[in-house]
Amino acid sequence: PKKIKNICCIGAGYVGGPTMAVIAQKCPEIKVTVVDINEQRIAAWNDKILDNLPIYEPGLSEVVKEARGRNLFFSTDVDKAIVEAEMVFISVNTPTKTYGVGKGMAADLKYVELCARQIAKVSTSDKIVVEKSTLPVRTAQSIKTILDAEGKDIQFKVLSNPEFLAEGTAIEDLHHADRVLIGGDQDVDGLKAIQCLVEIYAHWLTKERILTTNVWSSELSKLTANAFLAQRVSSINAISALCEHTGANVDEIANAIGADSRIGSKFLKASVGFGGSCFQKDILNLVYIARSYGLEEVADYWNQVIILNDYQKRRFAETVVNTLFNTISGKKIAVLGWAFKKDTNDTRESAAIYVADYLLNEQAELMVYDPKVKPEQIYADLDYLNTRSEEENRRLLTVVTNPYEAMDDAHAVTILTEWDEFKNYDWKKVYRGMKKPAFVFDGRNVLENELLKSIGFLTFNLGRS
Ligand code: NAI
Repeated sequence: PKKIKNICCIGAGYVGGPTMAVIAQKCPEIKVTVVDINEQRIAAWNDKILDNLPIYEPGLSEVVKEARGRNLFFSTDVDKAIVEAEMVFISVNTPTKTYGVGKGMAADLKYVELCARQIAKVSTSDKIVVEKSTLPVRTAQSIKTILDAEGKDIQFKVLSNPEFLAEGTAIEDLHHADRVLIGGDQDVDGLKAIQCLVEIYAHWLTKERILTTNVWSSELSKLTANAFLAQRVSSINAISALCEHTGANVDEIANAIGADSRIGSKFLKASVGFGGSCFQKDILNLVYIARSYGLEEVADYWNQVIILNDYQKRRFAETVVNTLFNTISGKKIAVLGWAFKKDTNDTRESAAIYVADYLLNEQAELMVYDPKVKPEQIYADLDYLNTRSEEENRRLLTVVTNPYEAMDDAHAVTILTEWDEFKNYDWKKVYRGMKKPAFVFDGRNVLENELLKSIGFLTFNLGRS
């Protein structure tokens, strides 16, 4: 296979940015251009001050610093980057449809289709088009049809190369991937195209970690991986509810079952529920696909993962209200954490949004603190739900930059993200400042429960009675 010298990636988001930064870092002889139609985002990627990069990931700014301007470029000139590249990654967003057939379930592929059309229109030489976005199984067929429809005398090959990085550990995950997956046609040209992409990852990963399959297996593996991961969270969360009634402790259970090598110990932490842009969207998509083939039992099975997750978020919020003597109207409640997990500024589908919305419906006064999320984002997340007016959201919820200010004079503290810094607060000082009885609802089981109790807090932990 020919050596790739020029890569274009369409979409400079949470996936396109970090993955391309690492490819550029590890393959200094390849020019990597990441393009986006969002000018603000591109400007932020080009910002001299590395703290201003559009996304926060541990280790990302160092990688960008090393490669940017050398062989890593960020640009809004999409056409130029496509024309120059031999390999084009599509890494645009594929959100859940909000209209029409499949509304609330199916993946909205309009951005992906636009990319395919643009590639078809401007290309003047052969291209390998790589699906990096998470896509429904069989999308490669549609992309190929669009690419070939211009009737140009050039060859397009479509590969599937889903991304398995987790936000918060993106750079570590990319540097030391458990595996990368490349799917493509199993004919001579398809295998050649696969090999071109294998060569790129082989710059820093051993060949055993680079799995190749047919294109449909690759597409469906990504949805399956996310469904399995989310399923573990919902499974342990289901048990957490049972623990609260029986005297069992969910962390002890996780430890006990995780010691079984068939189960494994990771991803067994009970919590207020999973969030993030992917799990829910990808499971809904899987459910939709299963139903579209008439596989009702399959669809129902996976849909239950979402039902359980919604239940867990609601259950946590209800517990806050019930414990605070069934009324929180006018009570100040601190919300620590807004990001969907620690070490990211991403708030998409964060459990905090839904818990806050529930508490606001009960007219609580929320004081929100998150180390990385900006106030505009927090208000935007709430406004998006359309539960109440924008004015009311701003009247009832205040965002602060000092956690102690959030907790001062509060009736209760809720922990909604597992940020490490929460463990190290001066909890004695917090206790002195709060209304009594002072409650802590730890939705991530991160604080030292015994310590809090010894200080005088009344505590609620998921999965403990
Ligand atoms: P994102 O929303 O952060 O980034 C997508 C970017 O694509 C946006 O900046 C948008 O402006 C740009 N874009 C959309 N249409 C465009 C067009 N026609 N031309 C140029 N730019 C365009 O999305 P994110 O989180 O990076 O996700 C991208 C894909 O990767 C999704 O399919 C997602 O499911 C998948 N994925 C996401 C992971 C994550 O942790 N966020 C992990 C693994 C996969």
